[in-house]
Amino acid sequence: MSKFIIQGGSKLSGTIEVKGAKNLALKIIPASILSSSPITITNLPNIEDVNKSLELIESLGGKVERSSNSCTIDTSNIKNAKLDNHLAGQFRASIMFTAPLLARFGKVEFPHPGGCVLGAGGRPIDLFLDGFAAFGAKISLNERSYIIEAPILVGCEFFFNIVSVTATESMLMCACLAKGTTTLKNCAMEPEIIALANYLTEMGVKISGIGSPTMIIEGITNINAGVFDVIPDRIEAGTFAIMAALTKSNIKITNCNPKHLEILLNIFKKQEIVFETADTSIEIFPTETIKPYGIKTHEYPGFPTDLQPPFTLLATQANGTTLVHETIYDQRLLFTDMLNHMGADIITFDPHRVRVTGPTKLYGHKLISPDLRAGITLILAGLIATGTTQIDNIYQVDRGYENIDQRLKALGANITRVE
Ligand code: EPU
Repeated sequence: MSKFIIQGGSKLSGTIEVKGAKNLALKIIPASILSSSPITITNLPNIEDVNKSLELIESLGGKVERSSNSCTIDTSNIKNAKLDNHLAGQFRASIMFTAPLLARFGKVEFPHPGGCVLGAGGRPIDLFLDGFAAFGAKISLNERSYIIEAPILVGCEFFFNIVSVTATESMLMCACLAKGTTTLKNCAMEPEIIALANYLTEMGVKISGIGSPTMIIEGITNINAGVFDVIPDRIEAGTFAIMAALTKSNIKITNCNPKHLEILLNIFKKQEIVFETADTSIEIFPTETIKPYGIKTHEYPGFPTDLQPPFTLLATQANGTTLVHETIYDQRLLFTDMLNHMGADIITFDPHRVRVTGPTKLYGHKLISPDLRAGITLILAGLIATGTTQIDNIYQVDRGYENIDQRLKALGANITRVE
């Protein structure tokens, strides 16, 4: 298993370019199944979760031509709508294959998806099952798999009891090939969902209400496919912005969309972190004293849960106390124990709330990356810690951040990958 060894304390500076959004790439790859004509995807991040998604396409019988940051997918030869149990069981986003397979083939068989364990009972898929049933599908379950069958999907009205990113995207994909009109209510509104919906519109589907809680979709029988450019990863951009503030460095983050990070940048203003934005970049300037500012995670445009772990780390360096309230997942604050091992002062009130008191000095430690966002946060903690930090299980970080060690090294970080 690979690990990172980090010597803390190096000053960082320079420019870092943001890659394509993981949480869009992982939707547009399975969306290729909606059409039997080939799609070309550009600005594709070269990360482990994308590799797994493309493997899943191939395991179904699709053809993938890949270069480092783009690919062409031809799904015309897919005949089989059964997801490989081993592969699909390894990552949560495999759930994104179920709707397009069901919509195109009238049947899909899949195991419970794997991925980061962020909730006490695992991560549920009830919204997906309820949604498929609303389109008229029959659902059965055997020892290892769910089997969903619907020779014809029929347009419906569906209300999401919980605002869910992947469930919204999945029902949107079902609606595209369903007979008649579908109304989806209480939809998630993340920029990645807007990008997916805009693409489907370009490919011939009529969708109104894109970017609002209610989308109305007129199903069609044949979806075209074209070229899709993945939008910049707002979570990666936000992580780098937090890293710059944390290390008190001057870093310019390019190829990003500051409008997708409005809440983080507003909070930076409250914290008196100095920065400048342009259309596609954010430049952070060294700020000696950071003010505390409490956060509560929320669906977009609220504070993203995926930025909560690095922000909580930043709070350890703010002057005073910060309350962090994680509302989306109940295991996403567990990593704060590791920050405490490094010297942080974080008190847990309950699985959803912690109080961070800063500033505290952090010291190098031997750690294991529990999941993607906690993993990158431990790397950032290592960058400001005194001494050496070792982080094991960095596969978790490679799942979502392309070539992170080399990119941080280019800014001056002392980080080494040990195989
Ligand atoms: N939920 C249910 N039932 C369901 C689905 C979700 O109860 O059937 C609950 C979840 O347990 C959670 C809440 O709904 O409490 C919201 O979860 P959501 O479904 O929105 O999460 P997701 O769609 O599985 C996506 C991202 C996550 C990101 C969340 C929230 C992808 C592949 N994943 O997950 O990304 O944290 O939205 O923004 O798009 C990450 O990148 O590290 C990551 C975990």
